[in-house]
Amino acid sequence: MKLIPAEIIKKKRQGQEHSLEELRAWIDGFVSGQVPDYQMAAWLMAVYFQGMGKEEISFLTQVMRDSGRVLNFSHLGAFCVDKHSTGGVGDKTSLMLTPLVGLFGLKVPMIAGRGLGHTGGTLDKLESIPGFRTNLSLEEFQKQIETLGYAIIGQTAEICPADRKLYALRDVTGTVESLPLICGSIMSKKLAEGLNSLVLDVKFGSGAFMKSQEEAQSLAQLLKTTGERQGVKVTTLLTDTNQPLGRFIGNALEVKECLDILDGRTFTPSAPSKQVDFDYYQPTRELTLQLASHMLHLGGKADSPEVGYSMAQKALESGQAAQAFSALCQAQGGDLARFRGEEMSPRPFAEVRAPQAGRLESMDCEQVGWASLLLGAGRLSHTDKIIPCAGIEVNCRLGEVYQKGDPLFYLYGDSSSQKACGEVEARLLNSLAWDKDQ
Ligand code: URA
Repeated sequence: MKLIPAEIIKKKRQGQEHSLEELRAWIDGFVSGQVPDYQMAAWLMAVYFQGMGKEEISFLTQVMRDSGRVLNFSHLGAFCVDKHSTGGVGDKTSLMLTPLVGLFGLKVPMIAGRGLGHTGGTLDKLESIPGFRTNLSLEEFQKQIETLGYAIIGQTAEICPADRKLYALRDVTGTVESLPLICGSIMSKKLAEGLNSLVLDVKFGSGAFMKSQEEAQSLAQLLKTTGERQGVKVTTLLTDTNQPLGRFIGNALEVKECLDILDGRTFTPSAPSKQVDFDYYQPTRELTLQLASHMLHLGGKADSPEVGYSMAQKALESGQAAQAFSALCQAQGGDLARFRGEEMSPRPFAEVRAPQAGRLESMDCEQVGWASLLLGAGRLSHTDKIIPCAGIEVNCRLGEVYQKGDPLFYLYGDSSSQKACGEVEARLLNSLAWDKDQ
């Protein structure tokens, strides 16, 4: 098909739908450099305002997937399953989930991401384990799926080059927050893994990209329909991100939380916090088990998610999941013994205390995410280096009553994190709303 870029842009500007053939020529033309950034930027903005039809989104996803290599594990005769989260604060579930589900004979070829905006990324977390390689070649990745059954790597140049190029352009043209473009971006990468089924954790709330439950529901429906049109079984969970997940935010701190959970430890802080009975690790453990339960069910290992839940719980409690995580680290070069020696008893350099007594009514969790980035747990620009030990320990929960001076957050990091301390403290305190009559 002869490509006339201005015609494609005008068509979308007028709200018309593209055919599969048109989208293939358009996206392939962009990847090869025939379509320049300025024309693609105009089209992205037209999509942002006009949207796309369901079939059209499915076509877009398909051509983005086909822009690079599409993996295929069907020769292994085992079910391939994965999980994707739309991004939260303190969400470290992928680290435990991948080996936990892999234990049951399902193949889990996870291609994960780095931090995006105020949210953390699985690759950055794993790289806080000394030596852990997330940059396996596709050949090494495929081999590990064949032998161990599970692996976690970053997107390589060969997988979905269209998404890499499009995402970079969306990032600088104000076109990230478009449901069809988000759907194409997420699903093309997941479909390139050669999956049979996918569990999607679609986050909503102040710490998520989708602030309202309705928006998250629309995205979940779109992701599900798009996956199913490509022959992949999809289950979606909507999860609340109005406060961070678990106790810790930050790369090494989140790995520590995972190791504690895998080792069967709980985290119940002692006084002066009012929540002496609350295990801060429980939300992380619970979401991991929920996601595992659906993966085991979709993968045909459990008759129902309830059965899958108790299978996953047993694997966690028996220490099998901990062994499977060690096997993952070993296979990808991660030195867990060194991590345990250096990072399992971190010391905070500062604490943030309650400015008054009251009930904690709400938290702008996105601001808590940005505060952790300011400490060095994420990147403010592409060239920034992550500080693995940087982050925040969350010592407060919504709905609880605190006294003036109670410690609400503990801050971690190195000397450069300490320079951001004032701004981080102000941001954290501003993120909280109190009912002072309590
Ligand atoms: N995650 C992605 O991979 N792509 C998007 O567009 C948004 C979130």
